[in-house]
Parts: sequence; C-alpha cells; structure tokens
Amino acid sequence: MSKKKEKIFIFDTTLRDGEQAPGASLTSIQKLEIAYQLENLGVDVIEAGFPVASPDDFKAVSNISSKIKKSSVCGLARCTKKDIEAAAKSLKKAKKPRIHIFLATSGIHLKYKFRKAKEEILTLTKKYTKLARSKCGDIEFSPEDATRSSKEFLYQVIEAAINCGAKTINIPDTVGYSYPQEISSLISDIKNNVPNINKAVISIHCHDDLGMATANSLAALSAGARQAHCTINGIGERAGNASLEEVVMAIKTRKDVFSNFKLDVNSQEIARISRLVSNLTGFTVAPNKSIVGRNAFAHEAGIHQDAVLKKRSTYEIMDPKDVGLDKSQLVLGKHSGRHALAKRLKKLGFTFEKKKNDLLFKKFKNLADKKKEVFDDDLIALAEEETKPRTQAYKLVFVAINTGTDVSPQASVKIRHKRKVLEAKAYGDGPVDSCYKAIDKLTGVKAKLLNYKLDAVTKGKDAQGRAKVELKAKGRLIVGRGSSTDILEASVKAYLDAINRVA
Ligand code: KIV
Ligand code: ZN
Repeated sequence: MSKKKEKIFIFDTTLRDGEQAPGASLTSIQKLEIAYQLENLGVDVIEAGFPVASPDDFKAVSNISSKIKKSSVCGLARCTKKDIEAAAKSLKKAKKPRIHIFLATSGIHLKYKFRKAKEEILTLTKKYTKLARSKCGDIEFSPEDATRSSKEFLYQVIEAAINCGAKTINIPDTVGYSYPQEISSLISDIKNNVPNINKAVISIHCHDDLGMATANSLAALSAGARQAHCTINGIGERAGNASLEEVVMAIKTRKDVFSNFKLDVNSQEIARISRLVSNLTGFTVAPNKSIVGRNAFAHEAGIHQDAVLKKRSTYEIMDPKDVGLDKSQLVLGKHSGRHALAKRLKKLGFTFEKKKNDLLFKKFKNLADKKKEVFDDDLIALAEEETKPRTQAYKLVFVAINTGTDVSPQASVKIRHKRKVLEAKAYGDGPVDSCYKAIDKLTGVKAKLLNYKLDAVTKGKDAQGRAKVELKAKGRLIVGRGSSTDILEASVKAYLDAINRVA
C-alpha cells in the first residue's frame, strides 16, 4: 500500500529576507507585484516584510494583506510589544494573517547581542508568544541562530513557544553554518526531545554562506520538517537564502527520494517570477544558476547536443517546460491593442489601474515604433518605470551629448524639479560621466557612484538598454535603474532614479 503523501509548505521570504540583501530595496508597489506572482506560483505563505522596520515596510505588508487571498500573509516581529503590535496592525486586512516572531537562542547572541541569561530568553519567549497569539490565530516562532544554540536550551524554548500558542516552529540556520547531516540530526532530535512538538509544524530557514542552503533545507524536510523558507533566485541577507526554485525542483525531480511529499507550487511559473524579481531588484541571475540561469538548459558541447536530440534525458534531468521555459517570449507588436497589452502585463504580474494601463499603452506604442518585436522583458522594463515611487523629485526632460573621437564629451541636461525646468551643461570623462556631472550640478545631491552597469533587456540590435547604478549617499547604498532604447537616456534615468531615492 502506498504511503499517504505529506504536504510540504512553501514559505516565501523574498519580500523580507530577500529584500534584506544589500541594494535590493523594492518599493511597496513593486512588492505588491511580486506578491501577486507569488500567489500565482502557489506559495503557501508570503512573508511580506518587517512592519516595524519602516513606514514603507508597514505599507507594503498592509497593501499585500488587503489584496492577497489564497496565500497566508506574514509579518515579521522581534519579541517586543511595539514590533508585534505593528505586525498585527499591518495584517489587519489579511484573509489569512500570520505573525512570525523571533528571538535569538545561541550562546553567542545571548552574550554579545542581548547580554541576557537563558531564563530571561525563556520568559520573553512565553510573554511575547502569548501576546502575538492574542492578536493573531497563526503564530510562527523562530529561535534565531538555532543551529549554533545549545540543544537542551533549544528544546525548552520550543516547548514554551508551543505551549504559549505557536503553531509553527521555524529553525533558522541564521549564518549558514550548518551542513546536511547536522541539520538532519537537529530536526530528528527536536522531534524526539520536545514533548509537545506534534502540536506544531517544524519549519527550516537556511542561509547560503557555505553554499549549502538548498541541501540543508532538503535534509531538514527528509528528517521531518514540513515547511521550507525560500526566496526567488535565492536572494537574501549576505550570500542569500535557500532558493525556492531549487528546493521545489529538487522535490519534483527526485520523486524517487521525496516520494511521500506533495507540493502545491505550480513550477511552470518559476521562470516568469524569477525574471520579475531579477528585473525589479536589479539582481542579475548568474548564467549558471541552477534552474533559472540562462545556461541552465543550454548544451554547448556537440556530443551533448547530439545526445539530447536523440533522447533528452541523456543530459537533461528536468524538462524546461516544467519551469516555464518553453513559452515563446515574443508577445506583442505595433498592431497589438490595449486589451492585449493589459492582459499580457497581468500575466507578467503587473496589475495596474486603468489610468496606468492607458499610460503604459502609449509608452508601448512608442516602443513598438522603435522596435519591431516587443518581448516580455521589454514590457517588464516599461512596467518597472511605473512601479517607482510616485514622488519623483527630479524628472528627466531632455538630454543631449556632444561627443566623438578626440572630442571631450559635453552633456546638456534638463530636468523638472518642483514645476521648474532646470538646465546644466558639463564636461566629463565619457558621455555618461558628463551627464552625471550635469545632474550633480542641478540637484546638489552629494552621492558617490560605486557601480554602473548596462545590459541589453533582450536580444537584437534594437534591444532596449537597462542601466543600473549603485550610489553611496547619507551612509546608505542606493540603487537606481532605468531603461530606454537609447542607452544614454537609460543611464540618465537610472542615475535620477537613485538621486530621487536620496533626495
Ligand atoms: O536568518 C534568520 O535567522 C532570520 C530570522 C528572522 C528567521 O531571518
Ligand atoms: Zn534569514
């Protein structure tokens, strides 16, 4: 008789731990677009943010709470009254709210971060799990740095959290220190030593500092965990988190090993959401990244190509269709209508109101006049412009450059600021530098350019360029992006985008 399948819950933290990656900041509108796609992908829980951290985080969690119906929406909170109250308030409109509280349990955190004794941590666990439970029916508790905590103490904290109302116990490998056998023993030990563990779902949260986040997550699931924390493209704090596409596709591909697991994720949506997250965060996916990298299904060697043509499974363990890679990217052209565009944008995860759709339609027509074929990535680049913060202090009106061989580049830039059009000219080391110098003169914002990158959005000579800049200003790392069929315009838009985030 075949064994009953057990559901594996996928808890996506792209919008919380993923967004903690330096330079990955997203606006609340962009977070909502990603949340729609996560729901479409079928994740069980969307960790939408850390509501107490900033007004923007609070807004993002409450926006997402009011729109997402199928997935649970979760807000993170430390074990403090202020954090838990902010999380509960931001989740008010959620159909399925969850509060995720965390408190460190490792000796190193207790000694250096908190200067607290174990007894105090136990008291705080009880007090704040009860408080969170009084505000929300679904509580997840994380003993932070669990993998470096004393096991005996961990068992006590977990037991207390469950007694006070936690339904999920998440085990974080906060610094990505553990390895698969160790994680597997830890989960088994928790199952065998925490008396009330059957009243909670065990979850796993792995970081990738040693490149083992996916392997560790799978080891935990094999040992009895039933929820995995993941992020799209594996983005996250430092080296990132366990990548959703890897965890999901490992379970789906190795049905022989994970025969008793069932997942509700629609893997055919993976490629689409991977592109969306990469475009909106500006975090390019490495070509050799498992599952979603450009080369993940490409065969270069002649012997491989020949064998794949004869029998795909000689060198391919997954069908590209299963991650949504078969679909043609060519979508629209200059004869496409308003309705087709709105429908396609919705499919790509952008749900705009009519006014924005109309504006995008105009921009799309302009683009279609310049480019013969408009691809999904072109549409994402156009839509991304509309997800930037509404309050853009500086807007580009005009840019012209005089440059050439043996000519010092000179830029002339006009921008709109508070209804006035300002103009400046500047020489620079290259055309982009001269534009940025002119903008510096106009805005007076003090920022240091750390990085500049230009990519083609799609293939072809008429492809749009997408520029990304990283600035250091007011002690923060600020990222700006811009796209256009004119690469200088894209570069200027990216710089202004970053300046607007500083101003
Ligand atoms: O890595 C970590 O410990 C976390 C917790 C908040 C779960 O992200
Ligand atoms: Zn984490």
